[in-house]
Amino acid sequence: MKLAIFGSGKIVQEFLPLIKDLPEIQVKAILGTKRSQEKTEKLQATYGIEAAYTDIDECLKSTDFDTVYVAVPNHLHYAFAKKALAAGKHVICEKPFTLKYAELLELERLALEKELALVEAITNQYLANYQGIKEASQNIGQLKIIECNYSQYSSRYDAFKAGTVLPAFDPKKGGGALMDINIYNIHLVVGLLGKPQRVQYFANVERAIDTSGMLILDYGDVKAVCIGAKDSAATIRSTIQGNEGSVVVNGPTNTLESYTIESLAGEQETFDNKRHPHRMYDEFKQFSQVIKNKDLTFVKQQLEHSKIVMEIVETALADAGIVLGEEK
Ligand SMILES: NC(=O)c1ccc[n+]([C@@H]2O[C@H](COP(=O)([O-])OP(=O)(O)OC[C@H]3O[C@@H](n4cnc5c(N)ncnc54)[C@H](OP(=O)(O)O)[C@@H]3O)[C@@H](O)[C@H]2O)c1
Repeated sequence: MKLAIFGSGKIVQEFLPLIKDLPEIQVKAILGTKRSQEKTEKLQATYGIEAAYTDIDECLKSTDFDTVYVAVPNHLHYAFAKKALAAGKHVICEKPFTLKYAELLELERLALEKELALVEAITNQYLANYQGIKEASQNIGQLKIIECNYSQYSSRYDAFKAGTVLPAFDPKKGGGALMDINIYNIHLVVGLLGKPQRVQYFANVERAIDTSGMLILDYGDVKAVCIGAKDSAATIRSTIQGNEGSVVVNGPTNTLESYTIESLAGEQETFDNKRHPHRMYDEFKQFSQVIKNKDLTFVKQQLEHSKIVMEIVETALADAGIVLGEEK
């Protein structure tokens, strides 16, 4: 896979050191903004990337890469992915896929029309521990309750309280606890149970953005609560409860550090099947295979999953009266 990276921020700086362990991926180009050109060029030099751009159209004229990794702030995912697809590139898009469900449908249409891959970079779906958690949750009797808590006090919340609104708390840029952090919990639950019957979001809203909140997903016989907080902290873990036992996911739902199976009698066993210490290894390993094999069956399957997540997000935000990506 010959890759262009859109963005040169936090996640890109975390991703680039992983490339040495993925020889099937060659990073050919990186795109940043004019205001931070120096930062982008420093990354270009450090990682031996052939070209650095500050203009997306210039970048997309290059025939030297086949795939774009969209890692810019949330409100730009749709426009940047759309341009990349229009230029005939496969797209790996950071979470959350888009701000609106209809935008994802539009990207899907464009990709499938051109027989291009379009996938969401959502770590948990690809981690070996996720397979283990899925299997374990089928062996604890009838599922009853799922509780995911990903609460992490954000240094950006201090800035927010002081009046500086960074993208992660900016409604216009698709920020908020649901989009930034709770989205991992939603992916975990949807991967286990699919589309819920009902969705409700109870959010703590400050200056038009959810700084924390509880999302209720009602599956009829199973109820799930997804808690995401950037304004407070607690032990980060999730529990999946059945009538014959439970599975505890230790750590955040984007890394799935390990999981513990517990019987009703209290017997416990902890498992960790990680293939690589970097949480992004498994997803990018799989994406490069999918793109190499033009595996559109896999792409369509993952898009069905992502669409359910986006439908949940849209319903939840409307429920809490939060409008993203537009002036209020
Ligand atoms: N941070 C994480 O741990 C993490 C984890 C998983 C997923 N993600 C996702 O990854 C995406 C990026 O997050 P981040 O934390 O890396 O954000 P970030 O640190 O703010 O980085 C965003 C990058 O996009 C660049 N950018 C902004 N507008 C642009 C434009 N018009 N053209 C080209 N580049 C532009 C920014 O340039 P400037 O520096 O000049 O603003 C910056 O390099 C988000 O969708 C987020 O949800 C983040």
